[in-house]
Amino acid sequence: MSESLPQPWVMPVGQKETATLRTLNSFAVDLISIPNVEDLFWYVAQNVVGRLGFVDCVIYRADDAQTTLVQVAAMGEKNPFGRSIVNPLKIPFGEGITGQVAKTVEAIIIDDLLMDQNYIEDTQAARSEICVPLISGNRVVGVIDSEHPQAGAFGAAEMEVLTTIAAMTSAKLDLLAEAERSSQRYHELVAAHAQISLEATNRKALEAELFGARKLEVVGRLTGRFAHEFNNLLTVISGNLEFLEDFVDEPPFDENLRDAQIAARRGATLIQSMLAYSKRTKLTPKKMCLTEIVTDIIARMGRMENISFVPHASTAAVDVSVDPEMLEAVLLQLISNASDATPPGREICITSQRIKHKHSDKRQLATALLPGPYICLSVQDRGAGMAAKDLQQIFDPFYTTKPVGSGTGLGLSMTLGFMQQSGGTVAVHSVVGEGSTFQLYFPSIAFE
Ligand SMILES: Nc1ncnc2c1ncn2[C@@H]1O[C@H](COP(=O)(O)OP(=O)(O)O)[C@@H](O)[C@H]1O
Ligand SMILES: [Mg+2]
Repeated sequence: MSESLPQPWVMPVGQKETATLRTLNSFAVDLISIPNVEDLFWYVAQNVVGRLGFVDCVIYRADDAQTTLVQVAAMGEKNPFGRSIVNPLKIPFGEGITGQVAKTVEAIIIDDLLMDQNYIEDTQAARSEICVPLISGNRVVGVIDSEHPQAGAFGAAEMEVLTTIAAMTSAKLDLLAEAERSSQRYHELVAAHAQISLEATNRKALEAELFGARKLEVVGRLTGRFAHEFNNLLTVISGNLEFLEDFVDEPPFDENLRDAQIAARRGATLIQSMLAYSKRTKLTPKKMCLTEIVTDIIARMGRMENISFVPHASTAAVDVSVDPEMLEAVLLQLISNASDATPPGREICITSQRIKHKHSDKRQLATALLPGPYICLSVQDRGAGMAAKDLQQIFDPFYTTKPVGSGTGLGLSMTLGFMQQSGGTVAVHSVVGEGSTFQLYFPSIAFE
């Protein structure tokens, strides 16, 4: 026996058992906080060599197919610093002592390796070896192996310590696998939930789109069929009223006549609005400067002093393609809505600006808008404003909050229909008690 060889355990029996028990206890406590399999193997190898006084410790993990052991941690003379294995050893089940233990699932002590036919010689000479399997369920998940340079270094005490360590390690491996499974399950659930809510959102958007399209189609079909006949009737009524004008100038009949004429004109506007909403108006677009037409329209409305038009300089001389008569009708609708919502005398402000719309821009648009250059005409009031739930309905035909006789609920639906037919759309911002801004987006004829 050479002097430099490590000596086997020589602690007095009672004392040694108490110390080992204490070590195993703290080992069990430490295991609780180990977060992953890799840390677990290194922790076990370090403690078998360190606190438990074994000369070395090598841990192998079994593959899923139960055919090969792969070295996952090694402490001792062969790997004194631990924590990394450059070229992990692979041992087939059944080969060598560790391979035998993996195959038979039985712990083993070899007193003298020189006498054992299974011993595969290593660079470091060893005389005795202890090897215990790591078992989960009835599968071998790995082995813990330790060698000693002296023959007969391992006995029942070492076997007990190492099988206890192996049992604790196996239990921790089971726990980690369970934690991994439930974390994966959790992530799958989160992903499935996200998928479901995405599908629900998409379906809701599709349903809303379909609902809008159906409404448009129904109103459109009805309007298309009746508009012609209705207009014919109105022409007859208006013609006759005009004819009567020459004969009825006595009060109160002249007033009845005027009322009838107003009603006939209202009927004409109604049918025009419905055609506009269902995008079936015959538009006669002209290429013209938007700010010029708006200036004209406002000048003609002269009597309403509380309206100001302040076009942005950059919009001067920028052309749009628009039906000027319909634009006038739409602007009148917006102005009349604004003045309905505003206390008398408070200003209604119309402005214009150039906008480059991108897909990523977040605007509160009533309908989708293609990216590109637009002239945006805003009609802003500082009136009653609207709540979010009302804003969802204002473009619906016949939606009105006004008393019977004063609102048709067609102003905004017609506005949106016209704007869409003109290649643009409408945006609304409104705050209850602060006011509303309606923005009309007209595709501008090229500016960069
Ligand atoms: N500028 C505004 N301020 C507050 N509410 C508005 C404004 N414009 C429209 N609304 C609301 O939208 C509704 C629908 O408008 P519209 O389609 O023009 O129909 P109508 O004016 O005939 O009611 C109005 O009844 C009103 O409740
Ligand atoms: Mg209106």
